[in-house]
Amino acid sequence: MELVRATEAAAIRAVPFIGRGDKNAADGAAVDAMRKFLGTVGFDGLVVIGEGEKDDAPMLFNGEHVGTGHGPACDIAVDPIDGTSLTAAGRQNALSMIAVADRGSMYDPSAVFYMDKIVTGPEGHGVVDLRQPIGENIRALAKAMKKDIADIVVAVLDRPRHAELIDEIRAAGAGTRLLLDGDVAGGINAARYDARIDMCVGRGGTPEGIITACALKGLGGFIQAKLAPRDDDERQKAIDAGHDLDRILEIDDLVTSDNTYFVATGVTDGQLVGGVRKKGPIIRTESIVLRGRSGTIRRVVADHLAEKWL
Ligand code: FBP
Repeated sequence: MELVRATEAAAIRAVPFIGRGDKNAADGAAVDAMRKFLGTVGFDGLVVIGEGEKDDAPMLFNGEHVGTGHGPACDIAVDPIDGTSLTAAGRQNALSMIAVADRGSMYDPSAVFYMDKIVTGPEGHGVVDLRQPIGENIRALAKAMKKDIADIVVAVLDRPRHAELIDEIRAAGAGTRLLLDGDVAGGINAARYDARIDMCVGRGGTPEGIITACALKGLGGFIQAKLAPRDDDERQKAIDAGHDLDRILEIDDLVTSDNTYFVATGVTDGQLVGGVRKKGPIIRTESIVLRGRSGTIRRVVADHLAEKWL
């Protein structure tokens, strides 16, 4: 629960930048706040998925140690804002998030920026497969969920690279939910039993894939992923790092431990949680905490005295 304080702080500090057109400033404010609060958490955290290598990012860089240094040794993945462009534009669905798992358990994607992913709820296990055409996956999932194909909703990042995929989903008879950004929230919503999305598919960030896997451990959800290098340079770096580019990564490859925590706080309003709200003397935040080992989802609504945040 201590981790929630870090995502709450990041979300609150990002608020002045909502709709101001400067995504780097929003991200910078969130990073600063998250880092400060993470320093107080009672663990020995190693940032495995951070804001980049040390030279590119002065804070929360890959390899940085966070926390008090006492307590459990953990891998940590941070995304101070998933949806920096959404925040800058004042759009919905921006979240601040952290995932934590046992030390050494998170997959290292090396330099590869994107992966192909497919995410569903528990019904997808043994039914859905990234190697199958999307139409077949939709039909198989509909059957497993005892739904009509017409009632299946598939979330996809709205990108030109997904034009064909979107056509195929619609041709199969399913509906699409086109995401401006934020495929972690898309994946979590696909895996939640009471959300309107049944599947999230397409090419998105590798860090987001690993963070999604940590969250899905708490939901019993299904994810498969495959590295998708952007160019020969990334391909070579991945091969040099020992990656098999044809390998389908299952959830236990993305994070080997079941002892995972995922926390997210809404920056702007979204399907998963509401955004930061100022109400008189109070700043209200909404967060979600998913615990892998127990399969618990907690929703945390916190009222913060605004004067403490001046
Ligand atoms: P950031 O806000 O950190 O930039 O990420 C937003 C996001 O939409 C992710 O959720 C997603 O995995 C990735 O960007 C997709 O990348 P791209 O915008 O290059 O298609």
